[in-house]
Order: sequence, then C-alpha cells, then structure tokens
Amino acid sequence: MTTTTLTSEAAGLPDVAALSRLAGALFATLPDGSASPAFPGAGAPDSIDLRETVSPQPQAAPAGETGAVRAPRAGGIASGVPEAYAAALPSALPTSSHPKEPQAGGRPASYYFVDEASHPVSKRHEDVAVPEDRVSAQSFGLPGQDTLKALLSNLTSSRPGTTELSGSRDEAGGYYFVHPSQVQAHESRRGAPQTQARSAPGGFDVQAVRKDFPILQERINGKPLVWLDNAATTHKPRQVIERLSHFYEHENSNIHRAAHELAARATDAYEGARSTVARFLGAASADEIIFVRGATEGINLVAKSWGVKHIGAGDEIIVSHLEHHANIVPWQQLAAEKGARLRVIPVDDSGQILLDEYRKLLNPRTRLVAVTQVSNALGTITPVQEIVALAKAVGARTLVDGAQSVSHLRVNVQALGADFFVFSGHKVFAPTGIGVVYGRSEVLEETPPWQGGGNMIADVTFERTLFQPPPARFEAGTGNIADAAGLGAALDYLQALGLENVAKYEHDLLDYATHGLSRIPGLRLVGTALHKTSVLSFVLPGHTTEDIGHALNEEGIAVRSGHHCAQPILRRFGLEATVRPSLAFYNTCDEIDHLVAVVRRIARR
Ligand code: ALA
Repeated sequence: MTTTTLTSEAAGLPDVAALSRLAGALFATLPDGSASPAFPGAGAPDSIDLRETVSPQPQAAPAGETGAVRAPRAGGIASGVPEAYAAALPSALPTSSHPKEPQAGGRPASYYFVDEASHPVSKRHEDVAVPEDRVSAQSFGLPGQDTLKALLSNLTSSRPGTTELSGSRDEAGGYYFVHPSQVQAHESRRGAPQTQARSAPGGFDVQAVRKDFPILQERINGKPLVWLDNAATTHKPRQVIERLSHFYEHENSNIHRAAHELAARATDAYEGARSTVARFLGAASADEIIFVRGATEGINLVAKSWGVKHIGAGDEIIVSHLEHHANIVPWQQLAAEKGARLRVIPVDDSGQILLDEYRKLLNPRTRLVAVTQVSNALGTITPVQEIVALAKAVGARTLVDGAQSVSHLRVNVQALGADFFVFSGHKVFAPTGIGVVYGRSEVLEETPPWQGGGNMIADVTFERTLFQPPPARFEAGTGNIADAAGLGAALDYLQALGLENVAKYEHDLLDYATHGLSRIPGLRLVGTALHKTSVLSFVLPGHTTEDIGHALNEEGIAVRSGHHCAQPILRRFGLEATVRPSLAFYNTCDEIDHLVAVVRRIARR
C-alpha cells in the first residue's frame, strides 16, 4: 500500500464536479431527502466543494472524515480574563460561542462560519511589535539598569558612602539597592501586599493578578507557597481552570466527525483556540498552527517529518550550546539516521550566543538551524532574529524553540521569519499535554505527515491514502480538545494583561532578584547575559543543589535543582547541576526577599 499525497486527478478519481454530483445523488437518497444541518451544502449538492478534502487549500477549514462540522476562524470561544482587564478585551470576543437559536432549516445561528475575509487573522493581531530590548527597570519605579550595573560592580568592594543602605537590612535578606528615598515605598510594599508595579500607569496590579491563581494560596510545610519553578511549569489562572470545566460540562464531544450539536461546540472550541494561537503568534493563518502535546513533541514532529524528507547524508544541522535536550536529541537521532552532521554554536562566559562563531558554521550544506529563544537553564534571550536571517542567507530552514519565551516576551513569527516555532501550553499558564507547532505555510506544504490515522486523511482505500492539507495532516487521531480550549483561554488571559506589561514587571523583578542573590557570600550566578529573562541559576559551594532545593522547600519555596534537561550548557560552565529559581508575572518582591533570606541562611551553615 502506498501512502502519498495526491490530488484527486492524479489519483485517478473523478473530477470535483463529478464528485459533487455523486454526493448530491447520495444525499438525495437519504430518508428525508436532506442531510445533517451541520453538513454545509447537504441537500444542496452543487454547493459542496470537495476540493477541501483532497487538496491543500490555504484557508480551508479542516474537514474531517465526514467533512461534517467546520469551525470558525475568528472570535472563538469565550474565555476568562482578570476582571480588572476585562475592559481591555477585544470587543469582538463573544461571551459565548454557542448558538442562541437554531436558524430555520436547523442550522445553528452563529458559529460554524466566520468570514475570514473580513477578519483576517494577521490583521486582527494589532499589537505585533517585537521589543528591541528589555525595558528599563525604572518603568516600575525600581532602579534602572545603569544604576543596577553600577551597584553590581561594587558588590565585591562595598565602600562607605555608596548607595548601599544599611547592613541591618542585609541581615534581614534585604534590598540594598533601593535608594533611601525609596525605602518608605518599599516598606509599605512589605507591610501592605502591594508592589511599586501596582501604581505604574498602564501597568498591572500584581496582587489582583495573584487572586486569579488559586494555587498561590496553598501552604507548603505551614508556609505560604512561593512558586519559583515557572521554567518547569506555570500555574493556571481560574479562567483556564473554568474553561476546562465548561468544556466538559457543556461541549464535550469528538471534533470534525459528527453532525450533532456537541460536535459543533467542541469543534468550535478547538478551532477557535487555533485562531487564538495564530493571533498570539502573529501567524498569517490559523492553518499554520498545529496542535501537539508540547514543544518536545513539536520538535520531534519537525525532525521526523520535514527532517526525514529534507535532511540527507553530508547535510548539516546547527543548534546552539544552550539547547534543552528536546532540541538536541531529535536532531542527533536524525543526523545518525541520515549521515548528517550536528554542529553547535558556542556561547561566551555570560551564556550568550557568539554570533561570529555562528557565522563561521553556516555554509551551503546547512539545511536547518534550530535554536532556543530563551535558555531554560540560564535565562539568556538569544538573538533569534539575526540567527534566522543569517540562516536564510544560506538557504537553510529554521526552527525556534519558544518554550521559555512565549510567557515572557511578545513573539511575532512573521517578523521573526522562522519556518517553525514551537511552544508548550503548560509553560504559558495553560494545561499540560497541549502545545503548538507553527509552520510557515510554504514549509508545511513541503512537509509530509508523520503519524497516520483518522482526522488527517481525506480518503483511504487499501491501495492509497489521500491526506488533508495542513494543519489536519499533522493531527492524526483525537486531539487534546479540552486542553486546546484551555490554551486559548490562557493566551487570551496573557494578552489581556499585556505582554509588554508582563515583560516590564518581570524585568524589574529579575533585576531585584539578581541583586539580592548576588550579594550572598560565595553564591555564583550561572548565566549573566545582558539579555535575560526569568531565570536565576546559581550554585553555592559547600552545598549540593539538591540540599538547597530541599531547604527551600522547607520554607515553602519551590525551585528546580538539577541539570534542567540541558546538560551540555551546564557542563560548559563546569557544572552538573544548579539551583534554578525562575520567575513569572505573579511573583513579587516579597517572595524574592524570602528566597534571598533563606539562601543567605543556608550559605551561613
Ligand atoms: N523544560 C522544563 C524545565 O526547564 C521541564 O524545567
């Protein structure tokens, strides 16, 4: 049996008009002379366009095995946002996607077809600028980067008369860099649960945001939970949790496969989430979004489909020294299978990619460059835009691992120009088990399926299979429908907060934590690139990373300690493990104070 993508003509099938006529004749034989109200064109065979099921159509909704239910490309499902930000929601977002009343003829009133032409995904995405740089720390009233750098340079030779405030504050795990005029504000932050960010114009209220995350009220070992393991996974706002309950209470069904009401609702939820992801990434079309289990599965999909077809003996694949194992192992396996070569971009002592060294690696044999946008072990923000542009100049394809970036930085895949971009839902406040591969449409067209089964096919005989166009071609079997809807809700939530607000707040918090930790005698921060986000990897000589992790847990503080699935980059720094606190927008300066105080105590032992 062959399994090849074929057009209907190439497969020796009747042409589309003939198939339409046949379908019409078939439906006319049904008992009431009509077909499912959810089957567009049923009972009116002339309007059936079977081309959608046999050949790629850029804007075609993925018709399923019956072609029964098609979903909207815009709007999507209602999803919650913090009350404080509800006003910021696009007015087009419906409060419910459910049809109010069936229309005459039994077809649901509102939700099968949204006019893509009048709501093109890329045009609806208004805020697509990729920040050139991290924002100033002063944006939230905390010391700016220059001030901080000057203070950090004084760390080892603290002099009287500098901006250091007082030793007693230090003993309390304090906040030395705060200028005297800011102490009062800082005190009030510690007393009342609020941060400088609270009063920032256009900023966000971290305490209000925290109320959206029920788990942050947990107590661990009798202490309030301090979640600083956000690079491993993030917590879920109530809006995401409720979205999942809503799905199972009101929408649960398989998708793309049936004519009934719940199938329509579930298909709406799933395809609506796909459109939300497309807007979030600035993709040109929802058809460029493939749902997978997570970033790891996404990279494996690309390696085992695009890679198997396009990488051959003597070809070269470039990754960076910073990569997570998920962006090393699949390429290593592919290289071994094909006789290709894996090459590695080195980093400097701060953990930043050496662009000049990268330039030297590029050559006409380079087929793929696969790099992370943010290092999970060090927090380095890499120059992906330049990396992608340089790869393109030698005709190589590019993959960007966005697992650690999408929760911290605004991403626009069209501006970035990458061919593939992957991320995991659970690292961006969505459920586990759902993730995304963005593939530029031109590249998806040259990518064969990787798994076979239901949903991805247009027609099957024992002799051959016709495949769906992307994205359905890459989604064999029943997908993670509810969690896709949860992902949509999480991205809506983050969009409503504003990625720029999140980036500014987290930048301040990272500077604050960097300063606090770096003042602890003996502590070595690993990963000190100028462009960083979220992550504070460190070691403390005389204490194993595991012991530090346990000691922090005793105080309610959750961090990851170990190799972070990134052994090559830790070994580059002569280490097998680090302690890795990692931040999200719901963390506070008070939590950082607590972390610093406990690590300081451990350091004294
Ligand atoms: N990739 C996840 C981490 O960095 C699990 O912890």
